Parts: sequence; structure tokens; C-alpha cells
Amino acid sequence: MSGKEPLTFGNTGGCNKNRLLIGGVIGFVVFAIVIGLAVGIPLSKRSTDEENLARAKRILNEVPLIDGHNDLAWQYRKQAQNQVYKVNLADSLIGVWNITHTDIPRIQQGHLKAQFWALYVPCDSQYIDAVRQSLDQMDTIKKFVARYPDVFRFVTTADGIINAVKAKRFASLVGLEGGHSIDSSLGNLRMFYDLGVRYMTITHSCNTPWADNWKMDNADNTITPLNGLTDFGKLVIKEMNRLGMLVDLSHVSEKTMLDSLEVATAPVIFSHSSAWAICNHNRNVRDNVLLKTKENGGVVMVNFYSDYVNCAPNELPQANLAQVADHIDYIKNLTGVDHVGIGADYDGVERVPVGLEDVSKYPALFAELAKRGWTDAELKKLAGENLLRVFKKAEEVRDQMMKDGIPPYEDHIAVGQLKNTTCRSGPF
Ligand SMILES: *[C@@H]1O[C@H](CO)[C@@H](O)[C@H](O)[C@H]1NC(C)=O
Ligand SMILES: *[C@@H]1O[C@H](CO)[C@@H](O)[C@H](O)[C@H]1NC(C)=O
Ligand SMILES: *[C@@H]1O[C@H](CO)[C@@H](O)[C@H](O)[C@H]1NC(C)=O
Repeated sequence: MSGKEPLTFGNTGGCNKNRLLIGGVIGFVVFAIVIGLAVGIPLSKRSTDEENLARAKRILNEVPLIDGHNDLAWQYRKQAQNQVYKVNLADSLIGVWNITHTDIPRIQQGHLKAQFWALYVPCDSQYIDAVRQSLDQMDTIKKFVARYPDVFRFVTTADGIINAVKAKRFASLVGLEGGHSIDSSLGNLRMFYDLGVRYMTITHSCNTPWADNWKMDNADNTITPLNGLTDFGKLVIKEMNRLGMLVDLSHVSEKTMLDSLEVATAPVIFSHSSAWAICNHNRNVRDNVLLKTKENGGVVMVNFYSDYVNCAPNELPQANLAQVADHIDYIKNLTGVDHVGIGADYDGVERVPVGLEDVSKYPALFAELAKRGWTDAELKKLAGENLLRVFKKAEEVRDQMMKDGIPPYEDHIAVGQLKNTTCRSGPF
């Protein structure tokens, strides 16, 4: 057929059908665009959220997620009188314990690979039986780690974390939460190191005879501060560096932070503290200290506790996951990505942000940061590489001090510096 022949002359019916067909196609395209605008954007956003979560999980399988602080041992004490064999951690504890953020199924869902378990005893044991209680808590941690050998492995070194994860075991470490636990004795400090303790928080929420705690910075404080670390306190830091025990500056006053950063020859950690500029709570870390921590090479492991995450000048009716991401972003923006980590404080607190209800939720936080433009390399540093770097450096400082022949510090605190000697039978 030639193109000159009229296609539709005298065949208006077919022409009308074609018009209907074309109209139908156009109508469908318009309909599809309208529906696409209404539905398509949320659909594509949803798939991006899924992609971010998938990326978060892939990263958390490539580098160990190491959390700086979890109080499961405290919950064993409060809710089970430290009777580890009466609680099945391999099953969900939801509905079994009234506060429960941690169990083996949720650890696995959360892609958590290593944990510093907090060895905490209350401040009211100071000058009385803090050492006895602390040994008991150490035993509790060792018991629950030993009870699940197919899941947990007790480790005490940076390489130990890496090897445990390679062997598909959850690396379990111990942090002693509060200098009151050593009862002002460098000998006791050394013995806790020998038992496997790898960080000590210089104070809990009470002063020791040699270091001020964060409450000294509160406007309503009535106790006369020591003004940071005493000379004995400085020796505690030096002995920790000599041992290769990480110095943890969560819970201490700003002056204690600054004094410790001055004395420390190894990088420090904040095992569970957030950014003061975002939430003005004295448990958080101020900008000047964050910058000194950068100089020192240390790491601030961000706490999820609602009260430290959500307060003035950025207070919302309820704490949420995005606010935790803000703390992390803030520290990264100020110091660079090498000085921020994760120290959630699960099972040590009653209120946690919406979206971060328990240890199963870490991937959601990493997905949020992925959405904010964090690179894979940055997310890996946050997850565990920063802590591993700090831990390895502390081990190197220990090895160098040993090579240099630096002996243990054998000084004793002056008896006059102790606030109560009722329960002591001798000077040391
Ligand atoms: C949780 O249980 C402990 C004892 O197991 C109890 O002392 C405490 O009051 C309980 N708390 C709540 C909020 O129910
Ligand atoms: C951190 O920096 C990024 C990029 O400049 C910015 O978008 C974000 O608001 C900052 N976050 C905080 C909490 O300062
Ligand atoms: C010292 O400790 C003992 C034992 O707990 C207590 O009875 C006493 O009141 C304390 N003394 C002071 C001055 O705090």
C-alpha cells in the first residue's frame, strides 16, 4: 500500500475508535502520573529506608559492633539475686523481668558483637564493703558468660574481640563502673585488672577520696569538691596506663575529665556519655573536653538514656532515635569521626528513646546515619573501629612502659584523705 492512499476516508468509525484508543492511553498516563505522585514518592522513600537498613546490617556484619556499657549484671543482681542459673538468657526475658533490654535473641537481632559489661555496685557500699560486692558482681559476669559457651567468650584484649567475632562468639569484656570499687588501693586496682577488668570509670555518681564526680558541676551541689583529681588520683590514672586498663571518664566532673586528659599517656574513653551542647546535662561531655579528647586520641561512646539525650535546649516531649543520631552527628562534626562510638547504657536506665527500645535496635540507628549521608567507612569507625584503635593504643602504651621498666606504683592514700575509716582495721 502506498502512503498516498487515504487511510481512513469513508471509514470514520475506525478513526473514532483510534481517537478513543489514544484518549484512553493519554487518560491512563495522566491517571498513572497522579497516582504516581500520590503513592510513588512514599513508595520510593520506603524502599530507600529498606536500603539504608540493609546497608546498616551489611556493615554491622563486616565490622564488630562494640558497645561500651551495658548493665545486665546489675539486673541479674536486682531481679535474680545473682542466681544466673535461674534465668534463661537464651530465651526472651520480655515478660520475665520488668526492666529488660538485653537477652541473647535480641543481641543477635541487634547485630551486637561485643560488649563491655558494667561491673557496678552502689556508692553506698563505699567505705564499707564495695570490694566484696564488686568481686561478687565480677563473679556474676563470669558466670553468665561461662553458662553460654556457644554464644559468649570472655576476652581481655583488642585482638581477643576480633578473634571471638571470627569464631562467631560474642566478645564479653568487663568495665568497672566507679573508682569506689577499688577502695583507694592500687593493689586492688591491679587485682581487678588480673581478673579481667579492662576499663575503670573513675567515679560513679559519688566522689572517691581522690576524684570528683559529675554532680560537683550541678548548680545545686553543696559538697566541697576536691577540684578534679588529687595527687593520688593522678597516680591511679598512671597505674591504669601502666596496666593497659582503659581510663573511662563518664560520670566524672569536668575538672576530673581535664585533669585525667592531662595525665593520661594513652587514649581515654567515655563508656556512656553524650554531647553536652545538644542536651545540657552534666553527665554529658562539653565541647572543650570533646576537643581535648580528640587531641588525646580517645573515643566518646554515646549514651542512649532518654534523660541524657533529650533535655534543654533541645527538649522534646519524648526522646527519640533521631536525637541520639544528633548527638553522634554533633560529636563527629566537632571532632571528626575518629572519636565517636556507641555506649547505650541498656539495662542501666529505665527510659530509652522511641526507636531504640533495646539491644535489638542498633541497626535502626545505623540506618538513620546512613540516611544522613554517613559513608560505610564512617559507620565502621563508629561501630567498633574507633574503640579497637583506642584499646590497641592503650595496649601499646602498656607494652612500652613495661619495656621501659616502669614498676607498679606502690603509693598508699593518706589515711586523712579517707572520709570514713570505721570499717578499716589498718592504714592499708
Ligand atoms: C521491678 O522488680 C523489682 C524486683 O524484682 C521491684 O523492686 C521493682 O519495684 C519493680 N519495678 C517496677 C517498675 O515494677
Ligand atoms: C553536622 O553536620 C552536618 C553537615 O554539615 C549538618 O547537616 C548537621 O546538621 C550537623 N549536625 C549537628 C547535630 O550538628
Ligand atoms: C562511717 O561508716 C559507718 C559504717 O557504715 C557508719 O556507721 C558511720 O555513720 C560512718 N561515719 C560517718 C562519719 O559517715
